[in-house]
Amino acid sequence: MVNYEQYLEIRAYTVNLCKHLENEDFVIQAEEFVSPAKWHLAHTTWFFEAFLLKELLAGYKEFNPHFNFFFNSYYNGKGDRTARNIRGLMTRPTVSEVMQYRQYVDEAMQLFFDSSAINSQISDLIELGFNHEQQHQELLLTDLKYNLSLNPLYPSVSDREEYPKAETHDWITSEEGIYRIGFQGGGFSYDNEMGRHQVYLHAFSISSTLVTNADYLSFIVDGGYQDHNLWHSEAWAWINNEKIAKPLYWEEIDGEYMYYTLNGIKPLDKEAPVAHISYFEAAAYAAWKGCRLPTEFEWEAASNRFNWGSRWEWTNSSYLPYPNFTKAPGAIGEYNGKFMINQMVLRGASVATSPGHSRNTYRNFFDTYARWQFSGIRLAK
Ligand code: AVJ
Ligand code: FE
Repeated sequence: MVNYEQYLEIRAYTVNLCKHLENEDFVIQAEEFVSPAKWHLAHTTWFFEAFLLKELLAGYKEFNPHFNFFFNSYYNGKGDRTARNIRGLMTRPTVSEVMQYRQYVDEAMQLFFDSSAINSQISDLIELGFNHEQQHQELLLTDLKYNLSLNPLYPSVSDREEYPKAETHDWITSEEGIYRIGFQGGGFSYDNEMGRHQVYLHAFSISSTLVTNADYLSFIVDGGYQDHNLWHSEAWAWINNEKIAKPLYWEEIDGEYMYYTLNGIKPLDKEAPVAHISYFEAAAYAAWKGCRLPTEFEWEAASNRFNWGSRWEWTNSSYLPYPNFTKAPGAIGEYNGKFMINQMVLRGASVATSPGHSRNTYRNFFDTYARWQFSGIRLAK
């Protein structure tokens, strides 16, 4: 069973991620795929209000009845909401009103925890609220990085380090056979990880290390972005239409590469694992190397034999339900299941992932062209 101390710890962590921000930084939304920091602070609060307090705390009164419209993200079962691409146009509610909203909901949650209404089913829902807020902690960092990257002053978003230590490369080999995939045991997991099942894998090798910036630079210098043979058809159209020839946040200045990091602009660290790579680019890089991306099943089967956690790792698996996947009834069933089309799975975690929010069964997912997450490449063959 979850408790209020855990709740407060997760809530405080979110607010703390904003400690370097000025008021103006909370509001902008540079593209539809990112959200303003202020929106993340409010939406995570709305989640507890909409799924717990309004439903289950007797006599609970909403902080502001308009907030359901402002801060519902995508739950059709929770009613109408503001269009995603105009989240950044809302100067009101102000940052301080959003902070008051957080406070108000935190106090109501304390009453709720004290009310002894919490059975194991409600505890699970609160725990989903914790994990939901942790997902938004990562998005808060990556969205801020994107939003502020468009500012020529290249502000620092965080003092979080982006690089782990370099390691020596090895190929890790696995035998053909039947492997068990999916979450098992106590503790939290999302619905999309459940339904442990067997998968047959052919023998494969997977790299012990991630592709580095130096590796990726060789691909660029070798003309990787100009060789249509390396790219999926959709990917080739994408790099040509969008004029993409290097990772997001890289800039060539006087023949040297610089890149924008959470700590501001820096010379490219060649040893660091490449980040901000789309699936399209990860697949092209792998083709250029004469390798491929691992499937999510290969990744999971071998995951206890290499270090992971600094970059989300693109897999060659479509984001699809596991056998026996079941959607929860009601709006909570919209959490993961309805996105199981047209996206690819990423495994691992990243430097932006909050402590305690990673597992080797965790299935992250994004569009094939998404680059603003800390997404990198691990090769297989
Ligand atoms: C799993 C990161 C793709 O960004 O929509 C946030 C996480 N789910 N609120 C997303 C999520 C509900 C999700 N990703
Ligand atoms: Fe959300």
